[in-house]
Amino acid sequence: MTYNFDTIIIGSGLAGLRAAIEASKQGSVAVLTKLYPTRSHSTAAQGGISGALGNEEPDSPMWHFYDTVKGSDFLGDQDAIEVMCNDAIRTIIELEHLGVPFSRTTEGKIAQRRFGGHTRDFGAAPVQRACFCADRTGHVILFALFEQSQTQGVKFFPEFHVLDIPIIDGKCMGVIAMEIQTGDIHVFNAKTTLVASGGYGRVFKTTSNAIASTGDCLSILFNAGVPLEDMEFFQFHPTGLYGLGILVTEGARGEGGVLINGKGERFMEKYAPTIKDLAPRDMVSRSIMTEIKEGRGVDGKDYVHLDLRGIGRKTIEERLPEIASFCRIYIGIDPVEAPIPVLPTAHYAMGGIPTDVNGRVLHNEKGTAVEGLFAAGECACVSVHGANRLGCNSLLDTVVFGRRAGMEINLANKNIKTGRIHSEVVEKVLKKLKQLLEKTEGTQRAGELRDKLQTLMMNHCSVFRNKDDLNRIPNQLDKIKEQLKDVNIKDKGKKFNTELLEVIELRHLVNLAEAISSSALNRTESRGAHSREDFPGRNDTEWMKHTFALKKDSNIEFRYKPVTVTKFQPEDRKY
Ligand code: FUM
Repeated sequence: MTYNFDTIIIGSGLAGLRAAIEASKQGSVAVLTKLYPTRSHSTAAQGGISGALGNEEPDSPMWHFYDTVKGSDFLGDQDAIEVMCNDAIRTIIELEHLGVPFSRTTEGKIAQRRFGGHTRDFGAAPVQRACFCADRTGHVILFALFEQSQTQGVKFFPEFHVLDIPIIDGKCMGVIAMEIQTGDIHVFNAKTTLVASGGYGRVFKTTSNAIASTGDCLSILFNAGVPLEDMEFFQFHPTGLYGLGILVTEGARGEGGVLINGKGERFMEKYAPTIKDLAPRDMVSRSIMTEIKEGRGVDGKDYVHLDLRGIGRKTIEERLPEIASFCRIYIGIDPVEAPIPVLPTAHYAMGGIPTDVNGRVLHNEKGTAVEGLFAAGECACVSVHGANRLGCNSLLDTVVFGRRAGMEINLANKNIKTGRIHSEVVEKVLKKLKQLLEKTEGTQRAGELRDKLQTLMMNHCSVFRNKDDLNRIPNQLDKIKEQLKDVNIKDKGKKFNTELLEVIELRHLVNLAEAISSSALNRTESRGAHSREDFPGRNDTEWMKHTFALKKDSNIEFRYKPVTVTKFQPEDRKY
């Protein structure tokens, strides 16, 4: 089947839906998603969305701007960060008007709580800046935006798996996708295409990311010659449920929860004396791993405790009900009564598809845009998060830049012709699928290879990195790539062939693992979430620049783009 739309949006998380609402005001919009829309990973965002509303205590967008720059370890582009922080208050009020049921203060204002790295007076003390709906903030925003986009006639194609995003002569033509239910291939010609397909945390063994977070579209674009920016920066959230990686919101510490080591000490006092447990995530994750490495894990094991007992039952049940229920169901612990075992979990990709502040995808470090191609949300790198994202800034990023991309798309659609995906391009995609399905020999199983890949990345490219570990990765990845050729897909059918999709996703994960690990080896300094044991300091003289990884045949080349510094010069990052 072939369709023509003004705009195709890939992904129905917050960025995709906010863009869809905007773009559908002026043109025809189709949203493709490999899940049912309300199952998008944005639904897992728990703790809040940041904005200096000042509903609980004095706050200002300038302090938010400063905190975000400092949190990013000075790698975030300050023009983009300023845009985001200045637009936060309007954005949150708009969400309220679109139907988001935020938690309230006793006076009826939108309630706010503390979150890591958000401070008043340029770092003086934590500030209540996170607007929230208990610990289901992403979930409620997603539902509100889904409802709104339906009232505007956005056409949804749920459970469609993207196979290609053809770019011909510098113009994005649209999308080729498989309908999972039937196995049929569909062609979507479009004037403009927005990629809002989320993150790729499934590269790692322990992650808070959903099973579908495999970065397919980033990998497709990388193969098509689009660079990927700052891939070395991957955030580990400090508090994943031990053994499972499920997120325990930072809001738990915002409400007064504390981290405790095996000796019963509040160890964050040592690492971040001013804001302690509410230091940015990169610092807290490193502190936890250091406590464990130095033998102060609980009972000598590889976890620490998150203690919520001081918060009290009422606050836990009212403000943190989801995580309380996760703890009770998944690990049999009631956080009202006992501390929660936690360990850092792969959570968020700071790097991704390079864009400008209006969502236009950049083809190179000089700022040339790909005609008709846009990106927003976690898959994109604007870059507002630099080397380390502050909690709650991700939901803000999705809605601010999703809306801006939608507005830019409306302008672009006036001047761009609808793309035409020619039959030869579709034939190529079909041929690849056929080759995969017709293979009858081979002993490898995709699940086992995925496990190997995730363990490799977890062991050698996670919270702490060094040259020796990173150098071990390429050989292992080559082996996995060879073994992938020897996978025999047993299900030869068309309908719901999840085994086939698993192999396709695994190829994308391997591709992204190469981009992450080679970018990590290339950056010989420590900054934000990229912590090199062999290069422990931040090196502003050589590395105040963004990495653009570019695929050239089977190699990865690096180009660089300077960081945009407007108001805040790099300083020592003390908390
Ligand atoms: O901790 C959390 O609730 C996560 C929020 C975020 O990643 O922004």
